[in-house]
Amino acid sequence: MLRFLLAVCLFCVVSKTQAGDAVMLPNDVQEILKRNCNHCHGTNDPEGEVRLDTILDLDLNAQLDLLNRAQEQLFLKRMPPEEEEQPTASENERLRAWVSSELAKHDALSFEKKLQKPEYGNYVDHEKLFSGEYLDLPGFT
Ligand code: HEC
Repeated sequence: MLRFLLAVCLFCVVSKTQAGDAVMLPNDVQEILKRNCNHCHGTNDPEGEVRLDTILDLDLNAQLDLLNRAQEQLFLKRMPPEEEEQPTASENERLRAWVSSELAKHDALSFEKKLQKPEYGNYVDHEKLFSGEYLDLPGFT
């Protein structure tokens, strides 16, 4: 009986933390990943050994690490690779906003912090940075 109660407690604690802390993958974002990324980052011989289709199965640290790497790729416009079909502008924006907001939610914006260092200055398109184009992205306040 005691063992049973312990198991129930443990289950409650685990599911509670997951509900509060886990990375959320809304359906529309999942669809964007499916359309634009998962044929290279899915079950079959994933490119760069990066899988995006199973992100929800990872532990939080691994999820945040993956999101940071994804944010870097998206920011530098390296993914999907140039010669591939590209997401639409709105898909792209949605994907970036999702990555940013998940990282911000977990206070894990390491790539965005890296960008503020001088050696990354060259990557930041200053005109864009100050144009207000990024103002509607959540998580920067
Ligand atoms: C045509 C295949 C292809 C598609 C589509 C594709 N990728 Fe990649 N991806 C690659 C290859 C190849 C690599 C490994 C080599 C590299 O880093 O350039 C990679 C590497 C990555 C990495 C790891 C980079 C690192 O930190 O080393 C991430 C993150 C990533 N892709 C995210 C994405 C996202 C997000 C999308 C969809 C928007 C996407 N990829 C679409 C081929 C693809």
